[in-house]
Amino acid sequence: MRLDKYLSQATGISRKEIHRIMHRGEVSLNGSETLNPAQHIEPGVDSVCLNGEPIGAPGPRYLMLYKPEGYVSASDDPSHPTINSLVDIPRNDELHCCGRLDIDATGLILLTDDGKWSHRITSPRHKLPKRYRVETADPIDASAVQAFLDGLKLHGEHKLTKPAELDILSPNEAIVYLTEGRYHQVKRMFAALGNRVTALHREQIGPISLDPALSPGEYRELTVAEIASIKP
Ligand code: URA
Repeated sequence: MRLDKYLSQATGISRKEIHRIMHRGEVSLNGSETLNPAQHIEPGVDSVCLNGEPIGAPGPRYLMLYKPEGYVSASDDPSHPTINSLVDIPRNDELHCCGRLDIDATGLILLTDDGKWSHRITSPRHKLPKRYRVETADPIDASAVQAFLDGLKLHGEHKLTKPAELDILSPNEAIVYLTEGRYHQVKRMFAALGNRVTALHREQIGPISLDPALSPGEYRELTVAEIASIKP
């Protein structure tokens, strides 16, 4: 890897600025000052220091975010604020979410730059359950529990939805567990039964729950145990 790329990725400083910093002689490689941004280095093997401080190899990042209403699940959008803009760390545009939420939905979003890890979450093969709290316009009929288990035909689709669990909490409130992630799936499942979702909040993705200490718009790093809980 080029030295300037390594430094830029590890620090969040632009490559142009890294070139200036190197020109001033502030970077050393294996103990000797280096002025060459194109120098090839071996991350994890070579020792790189900036003003005497060791610069570690840039590793993957894993975060949970409490998505507020009004934000789109994307790193870039022409007309709405994005979830990535809530994350105040270098190169936040390189993070992608492991399963989107609609602009009006709230709750748990997992963000990472580790594509293999996020694939384990989003791939239907892993059947990772996602838990949603739902409010509806009309009372939820008790027959919906069996309908969710049997699978529903969504508008414009032929294949029935996979068996989903529905726990009715009160006439207009329920918990839904889904193991697939079709477009607007929860809303469309209730629509298939003639009802309408008025609020949708994701509480859990597989073994990872939204941290109750987080408020809407806040995020934190995942713990080592949370990262490891998503099995290959
Ligand atoms: N189902 C929906 O309808 N919307 C979401 O954001 C997630 C699941």
